[in-house]
Amino acid sequence: MNARSIFRLLILLVIVSLPALAFAQATQTQTKPQTQTQKPFEPVVGQAGKDVVWVPTSQALVDKMLDMAKVTLQDFVMDLGSGDGRTVITAAKRGAHAMGIEYNPDMVELSKKNAAAAGVTDRATFQKADLFETDFSKAQVITMFLLPSINMKLRPKLLDLKPGTRIVSNSFTMEDWEADQTETITGECSSWCTALLWIVPAKVEGTWQVGSDQLTLKQEFQKVKGTLGSHDIEGRLRGDEITFSVGNAKYTGRVDGNTIKGTITGGSGGTFTATRTATRR
Ligand SMILES: C[S@@+](CC[C@H](N)C(=O)[O-])C[C@H]1O[C@@H](n2cnc3c(N)ncnc32)[C@H](O)[C@@H]1O
Repeated sequence: MNARSIFRLLILLVIVSLPALAFAQATQTQTKPQTQTQKPFEPVVGQAGKDVVWVPTSQALVDKMLDMAKVTLQDFVMDLGSGDGRTVITAAKRGAHAMGIEYNPDMVELSKKNAAAAGVTDRATFQKADLFETDFSKAQVITMFLLPSINMKLRPKLLDLKPGTRIVSNSFTMEDWEADQTETITGECSSWCTALLWIVPAKVEGTWQVGSDQLTLKQEFQKVKGTLGSHDIEGRLRGDEITFSVGNAKYTGRVDGNTIKGTITGGSGGTFTATRTATRR
């Protein structure tokens, strides 16, 4: 190959490689500004959510809500609409297993990052899901900061949870299902500072046999009214524990399906067993 042919070959190589070089440069200039402008997601208070906007619960109220629910290491806590994950992460820091259900995928990713930063990814998990489509029957504790109308939509499902399940809501009620405990905090909380706790009551409505006496119970959530023999009674449920008084005898028992076993303090004292004979009075 003479010098002229080598020169021609070089020119040809430059011509052939020019478009490739131009493409490489173009893709570089295209991707560069994107990587420069990619900022981490930052949530904005009041941003739209599927059914509720995002407003975070103050850390002080999160602590109060978990205190009221008496969260233990054995508990599985679920936060319905978990936002940036603070309630789930706080429960996990207390040693519980906790799961956040959140519809906004950016909030789910942010929660996962926050859980990693807090070192609790083994106990704090998050699912991108609609709370109305979620099975929360495995939870011993449910936390929520939603809306009164959403609480009411969830209420039948919540009332069907295992007796003793604790439900804590930031600020919003469940109408005539009165809370078992309400606490308002001051100090490190400027808005939405009230927590309400409900303990899912056992279902006791019906007719029961207690020795030779008939016990009739009419139930409205955690309140019961009825008769024991010829005496009117009024009582209360706290999960599967029922209490009612007849004169100065106080009955305290554990409900297990169609059986109640318990003790009587005052009056003649002793123990009692009640067996349900009909679910309606
Ligand atoms: C008021 S914020 C409460 C956030 C968090 N629980 C807290 O207390 O800080 C309500 C959250 O519910 C989420 N959300 C709204 N509708 C939802 C739905 N149908 N399913 C799951 N999450 C939902 C919103 O995106 C928002 O993050």
